[in-house]
Amino acid sequence: MSSIFISGGAAGIGRATAVRFLAEGWTVGVYDVDAAALESMQAEHSAVITGRLDVRDPASWEAALADFTRHTGGTLDILDNNAGVLVGGDLADITPEQVKFQIDVNVLGVTYGAQAAYKYLKAAGKSHLVNLCSASAIYGQPGIATYSATKFYISGLTEALDLEWEKDGIRVVAIWPLWAKTALAETDATKSIKTLGVNITPEQVADQIWHATHPGLMVVPRVHYSVGRATTVLANSSRLAPRAVVRAINKFIAQ
Ligand SMILES: NC(=O)c1ccc[n+]([C@@H]2O[C@H](COP(=O)([O-])OP(=O)(O)OC[C@H]3O[C@@H](n4cnc5c(N)ncnc54)[C@H](O)[C@@H]3O)[C@@H](O)[C@H]2O)c1
Repeated sequence: MSSIFISGGAAGIGRATAVRFLAEGWTVGVYDVDAAALESMQAEHSAVITGRLDVRDPASWEAALADFTRHTGGTLDILDNNAGVLVGGDLADITPEQVKFQIDVNVLGVTYGAQAAYKYLKAAGKSHLVNLCSASAIYGQPGIATYSATKFYISGLTEALDLEWEKDGIRVVAIWPLWAKTALAETDATKSIKTLGVNITPEQVADQIWHATHPGLMVVPRVHYSVGRATTVLANSSRLAPRAVVRAINKFIAQ
């Protein structure tokens, strides 16, 4: 049976992804720092394997992956590097601790997860590392500058590891949602939420994760997967339009 480990899978997009893969008959591991949310996940879905994980701690990753792969014969088909946090506010108004918190979870947490999962993904062969990126990595976003910058890191990490791990049969992909209906998007720190709306459901993101990890015959390798038409339009226009125009569009959307 195929297996997926989801960090931060007890709520939001991770939870929807767990439900999607459970419905497809996969062995699903949901590991999270939130004990109450894990309990509710377990109560609703008895088949799911749950456990505690703090992505900021490499030892916590080692223990959680060892725990989950006891149920899978020592291999892992997908690590869904999903856990992420956002602290809204202009950089001058948030604390150094809030800056560190976002970098620790969104940057170090994802990187430690990739490192710890490597041997299990390699053992599985034809496996995937999925990294949750964000439309806020299309152009730097005022009001959520640190969060947005952490997602630029995710984009770069994904591209680098996709090349680095190709020899091991591991595909690495980035999923790019625009604002989605979860607790993370409950912020008024950026005007982009009002300009663009919160129109994407966690289930849509889960669908895109399923699609990205089941690409069929791929003639051209693909690394980045937008979620929603607006994200695709913004991503494509940012590649094609002059930077001054992209800056002006983002100023209108976010400031
Ligand atoms: N919701 C959006 O609008 C949106 C848009 C683009 C990208 N994303 C990304 O999608 C991912 C999931 O976000 P979401 O919207 O579902 O958020 P959410 O807040 O609904 O859920 C995040 C989950 O991560 C867990 N978590 C937080 N810190 C953790 C830690 N240190 N260790 C383990 N688990 C931890 C939380 O307990 C929670 O269960 C994030 O990486 C986020 O940046 C979200």
